[in-house]
Amino acid sequence: MSDFIHRLPKAELHLHLEGSVEPATLAELSRRHTTPLPFSGNKYEQASEGLPVLSEDEVRALYQYKDFLGFLMAFKAVTERLRTADDYELITYRMMERLRAQNVLHAEVYVSVGVVHWRGQEFSEVFRGIEAGRGHGEKDFGVSLLWIFDAVRHFGPDAAQRVVEEAVRCREQSASVIGFGIGGDDERRGPPELFREVYRSGRERGLRLTAHAGEAAGPESVWGAINLGAERIGHGLNAWQDRELMAALVERQIPVEICLSSNLRTGCCAAANKHPLKTYFDVGVMVTLNTDDPAMFETSLEQEYGLAQKEFGFSDEQLREIARNSFEASFLPAEKKLQFLDMVDAFS
Ligand code: ADE
Ligand code: ZN
Repeated sequence: MSDFIHRLPKAELHLHLEGSVEPATLAELSRRHTTPLPFSGNKYEQASEGLPVLSEDEVRALYQYKDFLGFLMAFKAVTERLRTADDYELITYRMMERLRAQNVLHAEVYVSVGVVHWRGQEFSEVFRGIEAGRGHGEKDFGVSLLWIFDAVRHFGPDAAQRVVEEAVRCREQSASVIGFGIGGDDERRGPPELFREVYRSGRERGLRLTAHAGEAAGPESVWGAINLGAERIGHGLNAWQDRELMAALVERQIPVEICLSSNLRTGCCAAANKHPLKTYFDVGVMVTLNTDDPAMFETSLEQEYGLAQKEFGFSDEQLREIARNSFEASFLPAEKKLQFLDMVDAFS
């Protein structure tokens, strides 16, 4: 890891709280929670017979995937061990500790509110936990953090609308709730068009909007996300297949949240030399680098910068530009953005 990359002030815009749980922490949580989850009768849920205690090695094995669906199943296995406000406080605090250690000064973090609802849990308890973790983390590590409430696309638009309502409710308690997004399984089965009303209501109520798109589906999914009013595109891996889309991304400077290791480890991208990151950068797309689920992909933001340099030959100055993009594309107020951008520019 180069000293430049380590010390460079960075922001991370595509980071899932649940995907940041390190093996040691998940092993610890698996000892806390072995009882079956209450069965809500939801069609996506099967009655569980109880959960095994996991060793750290077993968690490491859980964090290896054959494909994208395999990854999503592991993500679900993590969320099953996250139950109390204390659990959520712990994982938030530990995530912020790791951000500080890599000079990540600001993060916009997805929390899978859709999954909490689906388990039949009260989100207010979870929110109490993540806010407590954020408060301690900001005080101890000086990391700034905003929440993006994530809905699961294969649970459909009604469930996604509940996530919007939850975001609006929680934002009344804390200005750290900034936005709404969709992720989850199969962009084809849950195409963006289904969520038009949901995005319209989010926008009208002042939420900032993102969407996972072009990760496991083609460029049409990215068009769909743009047409919904998504202000940033999560992944956008397959956008290069459509010239007009590329022109629109460049012309409108729509930020794309690139997640290299994630795309490789889920198999969404077959090999690093097939990843379009450098092409996007060279033609003027506003790219940012992100981990997606750092613990689950055994990476960190500084490793992602290192990987970009190693695989694509980005110079230090080009990486500085990407770090600039990460603050520029954030949902921070203008004056805060400027403060961070000054730090990136002054850094040597
Ligand atoms: N949830 C966590 N990471 C995700 C990803 N990369 N795509 C879709 N849903 C996710
Ligand atoms: Zn993601």
